[in-house]
Amino acid sequence: MDVLFLSPGYPGEMPEFVRGLATVGARVWGVGDQTQGALPLTARRHLAGYLQVPNMFDELDVVERVRRWIGRRQVDRVEVLGEFWMVLGARIREALGVAGMTVEQTRPFRDKEVMKQRLDAAGIRTPRHTNAHTESEIRAAVEKIGYPLIIKPIDGAGSANTHRVESPARLEKVLPQLRGVAEVSVEEFIDGEEFTFDTLTCDGEIQYYNVAWYRPRPLVARTNEWISPQVIALRHPDQAALAVGVEMGHKVIEALGFKSGFTHMEWYLKANGEAVFGEIGGRPPGARQVDQMNYACDFDSFVEWARIVCWGTMDTRIARNYNVATVFKRAMGEGRIVRIDGLERLRREFGPYLVWENLLPLGSMRRNWLQTLISDGFMVVRHPDLAVTLEMADRIGTELRMYAQS
Ligand SMILES: Nc1ncnc2c1ncn2[C@@H]1O[C@H](COP(=O)(O)OP(=O)(O)O)[C@@H](O)[C@H]1O
Ligand SMILES: [Mg+2]
Repeated sequence: MDVLFLSPGYPGEMPEFVRGLATVGARVWGVGDQTQGALPLTARRHLAGYLQVPNMFDELDVVERVRRWIGRRQVDRVEVLGEFWMVLGARIREALGVAGMTVEQTRPFRDKEVMKQRLDAAGIRTPRHTNAHTESEIRAAVEKIGYPLIIKPIDGAGSANTHRVESPARLEKVLPQLRGVAEVSVEEFIDGEEFTFDTLTCDGEIQYYNVAWYRPRPLVARTNEWISPQVIALRHPDQAALAVGVEMGHKVIEALGFKSGFTHMEWYLKANGEAVFGEIGGRPPGARQVDQMNYACDFDSFVEWARIVCWGTMDTRIARNYNVATVFKRAMGEGRIVRIDGLERLRREFGPYLVWENLLPLGSMRRNWLQTLISDGFMVVRHPDLAVTLEMADRIGTELRMYAQS
């Protein structure tokens, strides 16, 4: 089993997927823009070979280089788990004649408008929506949809350039910010709580799923720097209140014909109990949420993912033991991290329930919180009881403080 894996070193969880592939007996061939020496150790150790390319966004160039590099050798799978390179992966599959998602099948996963059209056709509830290319098209879309609404890039990620617009005055402020964006989605604003529905799917059948709760909603978290955003993997995704979302997620997999691998969906639960679909990625969630699933169920989903894509089977019994909270921290001030307060006490009090500390160490430069949800680091706690988990998460939010200075 020879697997071509795009970008084995970035984002941060990619080396774990490479490890997963090697663990189930695959030979893994990496392609990325980092130098081989810059790859994290876990990736390097489990790669059979590596091709460095100058620019991962120059799709035709990468396809050509890969084709030359592979030559007459056999490739069985092309796997890509980073949002921006999904189409590139599909192009490589087509160029090498490898089975798996084609460029056409990848489209609804990369174009929020195509996605919603397909889901509408399947009778799945999406926000009322339309796309727009120009300022006048946006204005026409706003007339049609009505306030409050959302305007966002058609291929956005991480809530970048995503705006809630509740009035004509706000629209005038937002329009100039969208000038560089070729195409946007204009959507009815859906009020409610926001959840994920993440799956490990094997030949169209969901083998495992995870429901995580965003506290607060991602757009709110990305609009207010002072917030320490939380993502909570729920121990009981089968509770009655979530059933509408879980059922919807199953329908989406079927409607889009997704075959094998990780998916990451987002959906909104309104106060009246109605579920509205948000979006789907044909890839795992980022920000170490795959690790969260592992902490929730004490399994190795990196390896199980690999088993599915290589051998078409999963080999584990899912035991849902914990709720898991990841709390992302943003330092106060700019520059280097100079002080971290409250850590000792939280460590003492949380004991074994604190399972992962991943804060930037003193002396490091702050990360750009607008560009990465990870921000200046995170803490992960888990507990069988949801209320206890939330209490620990909130205490990390308020009592743990990081300070930066330039
Ligand atoms: N129609 C909508 N109604 C309410 N909130 C929305 C809507 N569309 C987007 N948002 C908010 O913006 C965030 C980012 O939008 P999303 O479609 O998930 O794009 P991406 O995560 O790819 O940037 C969502 O998580 C949600 O908080
Ligand atoms: Mg999203």
